[in-house]
Amino acid sequence: MAEKFKNLLTTIDDYHIALLTINRPDKLNALNSEVLDELKQAFNAFRDDENVKAVILTGAGDKAFVAGADILELSNLNKKTGKTTAQKGQKIFSDIEMFPKPVIAVVNGYALGGGAELAMACHLRIATGNAVFSLPEVSLGLIPGYGGTQRLPALIGRGNAMELILTGRQMKAEEAKSVGLVNKVVVDDDAVTEARKMLISILKKGPIALAHAIKAVNSSIPDNGYEREAELFGDLCDTSDFQEGTTAFLEKRKPDFTGN
Ligand code: COA
Repeated sequence: MAEKFKNLLTTIDDYHIALLTINRPDKLNALNSEVLDELKQAFNAFRDDENVKAVILTGAGDKAFVAGADILELSNLNKKTGKTTAQKGQKIFSDIEMFPKPVIAVVNGYALGGGAELAMACHLRIATGNAVFSLPEVSLGLIPGYGGTQRLPALIGRGNAMELILTGRQMKAEEAKSVGLVNKVVVDDDAVTEARKMLISILKKGPIALAHAIKAVNSSIPDNGYEREAELFGDLCDTSDFQEGTTAFLEKRKPDFTGN
């Protein structure tokens, strides 16, 4: 792969499996717009590369897969830019969801907010024992904006999803497995090796059948909620509570919401 990325590491093994690592560990691999742009470029390159037959997506370091959208960048959004930012993230994640070659997320630590949404957009999820999932946006005076309000109910049911989104609570790997948010938890072995094993077995099947299976399974996902999610995300960016939530995070204090 010719591209050089500032925030991503890429390798391709002898089985034609690309390992894509989000590499911003000092910010727990938070997704700023540069990381999102690079993810888009990487998947576009993998799509066109005949040497790539599957992708493993993970985060650098042992603490986080991705700790969410970059809150410093989020704090500058308003109603209009909030909506377009959500739409942009939704498009990149939906392209990953519709990617014609299998994509496994190896969730190696925190998968919060946009990180959980990114993992949910992948076809399969393998979690390490220390994986933690959460959609904590309400703690910032916000809602998930990269498809989380749509994909989480599809994966774990509306009731479970509503609870996670309204409370923003954290869910550890074993619970995530029990509700169907992850396919497998790998405690003692290397999770990337496990993902690779799974992909080697999947890649013995017909490639056109795999691409069609991804398309067919994803056809059942309703898409009418994404536009509404982006609109509501944008609306919240104009509230005082959103300013308070993001500022409180950056100032490392608890938010004091007033409902304005
Ligand atoms: N956006 C921007 N920066 C982030 C970030 C995010 N989503 N998540 C973590 N960081 C940064 C921190 O600001 C900190 O930067 P600093 O060293 O320059 O101060 C660095 O990453 C390490 O994070 P820190 O909070 O010090 O680590 P911790 O171990 O104490 O806590 C978390 C880890 C994941 C619990 C905490 O970072 C957190 O709550 N992150 C935000 C989660 C979130 O709300 N995500 C959803 C966004 S939509």
